Amino acid sequence: MCGIVGAVAQRNVSNILITGLKRLEYRGYDSAGVALINDQGLQRVRRQGKVAGLEQAVRETDASGFTGIAHTRWATHGRPSEKNAHPHLSGEELALVHNGIIENFQELREELESEGYQFASDTDTEVVVHLVHRAMAETADLFRALQSVVKRLRGAYALGVIHAREPHRLVAVRSGSPLVVGLGIDENYVASDQLALLPVTNRFVFLGEGDMVDVTLEGVRIFDADGNEVNREVHELDGAHEDAEKGEYRHYMQKEIFEQPAAIQRTLEDRIDSPQSVSDAFGERATAIFDQVRTVQIVACGTSYHAGMVARYWLEALAGIPCQVEVASEFRYRQHVVPEGTLFVTISQSGETADTLAALRDTDSSNYVGRLAICNVDGSSLVRESELVFLTKAGPEIGVASTKAFTTQLTALLMLVMALGRRKGMEDEKIESILNELRQLPNLIEQAASLDKPIEQLSRAFVEKHHTLFLGRGVQFPVAMEGALKLKEISYIHAEAYPAGELKHGPLALVDKDMPVVAVAPNDELLEKLKSNLQEVRARGGELYLFADKNAHVKEGEGIHVLNLPAVPEIIAPIVYTVPLQLLSYHVAVLRGTDVDQPRNLAKSVTVE
Ligand code: G6P
Repeated sequence: MCGIVGAVAQRNVSNILITGLKRLEYRGYDSAGVALINDQGLQRVRRQGKVAGLEQAVRETDASGFTGIAHTRWATHGRPSEKNAHPHLSGEELALVHNGIIENFQELREELESEGYQFASDTDTEVVVHLVHRAMAETADLFRALQSVVKRLRGAYALGVIHAREPHRLVAVRSGSPLVVGLGIDENYVASDQLALLPVTNRFVFLGEGDMVDVTLEGVRIFDADGNEVNREVHELDGAHEDAEKGEYRHYMQKEIFEQPAAIQRTLEDRIDSPQSVSDAFGERATAIFDQVRTVQIVACGTSYHAGMVARYWLEALAGIPCQVEVASEFRYRQHVVPEGTLFVTISQSGETADTLAALRDTDSSNYVGRLAICNVDGSSLVRESELVFLTKAGPEIGVASTKAFTTQLTALLMLVMALGRRKGMEDEKIESILNELRQLPNLIEQAASLDKPIEQLSRAFVEKHHTLFLGRGVQFPVAMEGALKLKEISYIHAEAYPAGELKHGPLALVDKDMPVVAVAPNDELLEKLKSNLQEVRARGGELYLFADKNAHVKEGEGIHVLNLPAVPEIIAPIVYTVPLQLLSYHVAVLRGTDVDQPRNLAKSVTVE
């Protein structure tokens, strides 16, 4: 979703901005633009389509400047087009970029139009730049102008503004949308996330909600929502740089699939030495809070929601703790009953997903024994606003379709099950045996990923198909859901997941030779039942593609294609079985020639509702 990069320096910043935008491409966008100030004034270049097109246009127009803002836009108000791309201007000296949605833009637009302002775009954003222009007429100070304007805005925003009359200054603010400040040497920056700025700095300040920042060559001054100057901690990040490069791989998604053993290893490291260390991984206050937990409410979106669905099976079966899971966009707008002793758990790769964040912010803390965030991004809003945090250590995930974030979330959730279970009387012996399984996990994931070649072969059968059905039973049902989500996200093949037992209640009507059916069949107590369900598919001429435990004795035959996985302990099977499904959708997408890392219409970080 929209990305912002801004810089104030003594050198030409156009490369910093374009490189930053490229590093934000993963968020999803449809157009891009940049505004630069140099001694001649303000220049703007915008293009529909990829950042590479913008880069070429910047080269051709020789646009340069020592101060600048840049943006990738993901259309919300107004279709993707050059005229709707950011930065937006008011007059010839003022430029602004925005991530988020201004909910009251209609009334503001009418007000500005009645005063003679003319609008050049269909966006909600353009009202803000004109408001700043109007305020500048009164204060002649960019910071104070923006300060007065945000009081009029309803909705979510991260904004960056520059003005040719104050050429060495950039003013930015965040409320509901992410923004970080990067600190350089005699130059400073802002961006939607730190990845954009890693080539120029590793020192970052994560802004708080409502913070406004005055960025100049000399430094950065931060003011909270009440206008008081505040000190925010400076974070130095190490080692994240290489992770964000594609290296030898053709796509980020492919790289991220193969990184899973290492990502899981990092997530487990120093946290699974003993049953006690598992609880400690959730923070100092974890034990006191976990003691009070009687039930768990999980809220998340997309792939993270599927991780929550898996956790529900685990929590109830292994720890005897009732668990509800809901997508955040539903949960936040629904009246719900909160049973006594409920732990509120959010799961998110980015920690900035608008609906998940809103659900957290809507919780009345007195109703919950605590709020835990399972998240991959340190310093993100979700992390900062939750009492308990478990950081998954997947490293930067660039592919829009989530892979290593999911399997590290599952790893974290299994640890949560043990930490809560222990307080409910789960025996240390049982915990030790799950810990032993977890220790084998990176190796088993590697074995599953080594099926890459046969899966690539198998994927050819899907290329011409329009629909695919995914089946699983029990805890493998959410794994099937995740498999279907992956396939539809990146290959644009319509895919549905069903619990195999539901087959005859509807989806069986769709099964014929043109509808491939993918099933995950670990060697668990539901295997025999699953096998019967699969017979129902074969009887209707459906082609079956099975990912099965090598000891499950599922036989190849006409219309039955079997790929054997290593023998996997039952509890961790959902994590291992995710991997072949990721590889399947990856290869189908590559064969279909889609944009694997940035699928159409989708965004990695959905920071608007
Ligand atoms: C978007 C992404 C998905 C992700 C979901 C939730 O839809 O494309 O990959 O699962 O948002 O994101 P989160 O960062 O909260 O996990």
